[in-house]
Amino acid sequence: MQLIDGKATAATIKSEIKQQVEQMVAAGRRRPHLAAILVGHDGGSETYVKNKVLACEACGFESTLLRFEDDITEAELLSHVQSLNENPAVDGFIVQLPLPKHIDEQRVIEAIDYRKDVDGFHPINVGRMAIGLPCFISATPKGILELLRRYNVPTSGRKCVILGRSNIVGKPMAQLMMQKQYGDATVTVCHSRSATLVDECRKADILIAAIGQPAFVKAEMVKPGAVVIDVGTTRVSDASRKSGYRLQGDVDFEQVAPLCSLITPVPGGVGPMTICMLMQNTLAAATRAYY
Ligand code: GUN
Repeated sequence: MQLIDGKATAATIKSEIKQQVEQMVAAGRRRPHLAAILVGHDGGSETYVKNKVLACEACGFESTLLRFEDDITEAELLSHVQSLNENPAVDGFIVQLPLPKHIDEQRVIEAIDYRKDVDGFHPINVGRMAIGLPCFISATPKGILELLRRYNVPTSGRKCVILGRSNIVGKPMAQLMMQKQYGDATVTVCHSRSATLVDECRKADILIAAIGQPAFVKAEMVKPGAVVIDVGTTRVSDASRKSGYRLQGDVDFEQVAPLCSLITPVPGGVGPMTICMLMQNTLAAATRAYY
């Protein structure tokens, strides 16, 4: 069994991005600029956004954080989105999710100019991704593809089982893994209602767990020699930690790891790659790579 080191891979990619940025600057161009909107004080969202700002620094990007209290109205939030759409000094931006209940998340996502939608959540980007056109691809599935590529995992013609059907991970992952230009794999998507979930998982050469249930994947669900990618990051209470919690993946790592050829740990697997792919998307926005 070999660990897939997402942290080290992300560090390598960030330094590659930084080199490109310094070349751009040396050629007289301005630094890529990512803006982030954060509403409220959700602990997870605060951490994610802080790490995105730090990643911008590591890549040599400019960053702007716009913070609002959770009583902001939908109309006010939409007007800030509009300002960022119109600001030529901002290459791309994200609105950190989830938003407070009184705001229609989909309306906000659709208000973002798709040419600045570095999260790849706008229906134009989702649709273009689904038919294989150049677009912003959402960061988590893009990061998983990059890990599989950098660890030379063969995917073409292999059976890939994806656990979970979310818009952010499960659905785009399935689209990408099936497409000839990306995974070129035979893809099965299982979810909480799948009657044959265990049997399907046992057939997988590549198993991608994004179901949001801590330690859901057990040894009997994994084919010996499989590659296992764990997208789960549930906070579970742990009195031995200073923070009072630890991150638990969707895979029961202790049971499953000895069976795998390759496996991503939690933390340090998929998570660091996600932010790093957001940086790649921002660089692509700054260089007008897609639009
Ligand atoms: N909330 C959880 N993951 C994400 C993400 O990738 N982007 C945004 N904007 N919000 C999130």
